[in-house]
Amino acid sequence: MAGTSSSSIRPRVLLTRRIPSSAFEKLEARCDVDLNDQGSLSADELKRLLAYKDGLICVVTDKITPDVLEAGAKLKVVANIAVGYDNIDVPAARSRGIVVTNTPDVLTEAVAEITWGLIFSITRRIVEGDRLVRRGAWKGWALDFMLGTELGGKQLGIIGRGRIGRAVAAKAPAFGMQAVFAVRGGGKPGSGEMSLDELLVTSDVISIHTPMTAANRHLIDRKAFARMKRSAFLVNTARGPIVDEEGLAWALKERLIAGAALDVYEREPEVTASLMALENVVLAPHLGSATRETRTAMADMAVRNAVAVLEGNPPLTPV
Ligand code: DGY
Repeated sequence: MAGTSSSSIRPRVLLTRRIPSSAFEKLEARCDVDLNDQGSLSADELKRLLAYKDGLICVVTDKITPDVLEAGAKLKVVANIAVGYDNIDVPAARSRGIVVTNTPDVLTEAVAEITWGLIFSITRRIVEGDRLVRRGAWKGWALDFMLGTELGGKQLGIIGRGRIGRAVAAKAPAFGMQAVFAVRGGGKPGSGEMSLDELLVTSDVISIHTPMTAANRHLIDRKAFARMKRSAFLVNTARGPIVDEEGLAWALKERLIAGAALDVYEREPEVTASLMALENVVLAPHLGSATRETRTAMADMAVRNAVAVLEGNPPLTPV
């Protein structure tokens, strides 16, 4: 009896990954859900699965290109389970009247926490020490063994003054650090705001929290590394392409900077091979928002966004 059952008028949603059951149940209560639990989807698979779907709930590794959007002729909403949305061609979606949503706020603390975790890992050589212990190379305590860098009294330069950048800065006083922000045109002396160049030249730890845009691609390039202190550390928990990864490997090898800690990469999950060989870099596998609490909250928010749009209501967090 096509067209007459109540389920036939329920919106149809493609969910590209398994999500926590609390969020899944909310989605299933309101929509017919096509769940992909086979891992990453190719563009062709996405296109095929999107036919006749009203909504798409996706993750950062799903590339939502104009082609993919074209295949979803009935799509009304793309709800990304991420705060960043550089995986989605937002102008192309808008031109088709498709609402795009993200998951701000709920992951701010998780990303701020991992940023501090990475700052400690690289400045106190924790991961390098772990490698050394595991390969049986530890000869015992020594006064001058594996000395790191203390944070107290140092400057934390934050690139990106959004929620996450501010949350990272808010924790700086607990470790005796002074946080400063890069602002266009520079700030007044003593205001904690300065030009990007001044931030690069004067900071001891530089942490990136800016969204990925065409203008930010390779914002931190060889020229930027050459401006940094030789004792500086770079941390990136934002998006990989903001940093020139080859340039970073060069800067670390030449000791233009002291170290780096990355959670994101230019071509995930691929990591520039020359970085792998270096001791003075910590390489985390894109774990910024990866806590049970946060991932549940992100999935829940994406579901609520998708359902809102599909039921004709405004989305909670449109981009
Ligand atoms: C985000 O939300 O943008 C994160 O990078 C996903 O973990």
